[in-house]
Amino acid sequence: MNEHDSENIAGLLEAMGYEHADDPSNADLVIMNTCSIRENADKRFFGVLGQFKKNRLSNPNFILAVCGCMPQQERIVEEINKSYPWVDILFGTQTIGQFPQLLQDRIETGCQQIAIIDNNPHIQEEEMQAKRLYKFKSLVNITYGCNNFCTYCIVPYTRGREKSRTVESIVDEIKSLVADGVKEVTLLGQNVDSFKDPTTKQGFAELLREVNKIEGLQRIRFMTSHPKDISDEMISCFTDCDNLCNYIHLPVQSGSNRILKRMNRHYDRERYLERIHKIREASPDITISTDIIVGFPGETEEDFEETLKLVKEVRYDSAFTFIYSPREGTPAANYDDQIPDKIAHQRFDRLVDALNEIFYEKNLSYVGKTVDVLIDGVSKTDSNCVTGRSDDFKIVNIPFVDCCNSCKTDMIGQIISVKIIEASTFSLKGELVS
Ligand code: 5AD
Ligand code: SF4
Repeated sequence: MNEHDSENIAGLLEAMGYEHADDPSNADLVIMNTCSIRENADKRFFGVLGQFKKNRLSNPNFILAVCGCMPQQERIVEEINKSYPWVDILFGTQTIGQFPQLLQDRIETGCQQIAIIDNNPHIQEEEMQAKRLYKFKSLVNITYGCNNFCTYCIVPYTRGREKSRTVESIVDEIKSLVADGVKEVTLLGQNVDSFKDPTTKQGFAELLREVNKIEGLQRIRFMTSHPKDISDEMISCFTDCDNLCNYIHLPVQSGSNRILKRMNRHYDRERYLERIHKIREASPDITISTDIIVGFPGETEEDFEETLKLVKEVRYDSAFTFIYSPREGTPAANYDDQIPDKIAHQRFDRLVDALNEIFYEKNLSYVGKTVDVLIDGVSKTDSNCVTGRSDDFKIVNIPFVDCCNSCKTDMIGQIISVKIIEASTFSLKGELVS
């Protein structure tokens, strides 16, 4: 979501004639797009913000804007105005469309501009032309905001109530992306399963079937699914929709029913496991990833062991694991049985060890198989390698020894058959099938 917001902001700036600077220290305009999902993102924000004071001192035309989830919180705006009063523009996740006007007003008046609250009932992004990070794959919002209020989560407070786009506008957007060379789209929503076209009332499965009909589109991904809402009809799309990738991200958060209840997740481990079973029935070799929080208030050793047991039962292909981080304004931050850091860290390490063992075993089973990989680019860590994702979302690296740069760049954006020759915990290594 955050990444796609940045693409939308970059698109607005490009339309105004701005160009991307090679380094923030040379920029006339810096926009910090912030996240506040966990506390360490908060802390890093203030550290980085302070570094821009020198741009202000050395460049009289310098403008600094802060947007995203952080300025949606009153205490953050107060802190910025108290300690960093030289910030020029503050806007939120729902007021991105107002940014060009705010920028113009700041330049003309020299005064700080703030627009956090969205007074417009329309979905603002519909009118925006994103500057995409990749030419051949794209993120596409289908809903904005969230109505679920998981007790640990700040998103419903920062991104507001859930709004769905229409199937028609989503399909039109994807058709124009495909005409522009896009092969893969990822449909984005905090809870894609609660998507509902405001006019036709079509749900997520119907949307997927419409998107699957788009000619020229090769891969469809989506995130994030919610175990309480994922329907049989949606799951049947894994069987029926030939362009739907063979991968699902289904956050479990905890394996303990007591903790799931306290998290306000509206499902129990039995329902979660039943959904996994149903998904595997529809697509036996599907890859599955998840999100897990350890150290949620009140989590006992027994609760944590339920989580360990569940991950061993599901056997995930990958996972995002988090130590619970209290967010001011959310119910769980006020629970009086917070878990000491040391215990949370120990549980986190135990969980990561168990998961890594499973990831490695699952990746090992790919050795000798051939997979189709959409090549994203030259690897950031090894310039002799190109890297991409298989249909089932495995990271695949393909080394090229003694190869010219142009043959590597020619491959970017192509879907290529690759034979897997080596596995590690988080990625696969392969060679081109000639
Ligand atoms: N503490 C830790 N993890 C969190 N997440 C959301 N809020 C918190 C929090 N307060 C995690 C959840 C969610 C993912 C995007 O971030 O696992 O699925
Ligand atoms: Fe946060 Fe829960 Fe909404 Fe996901 S579903 S964004 S975890 S409140």
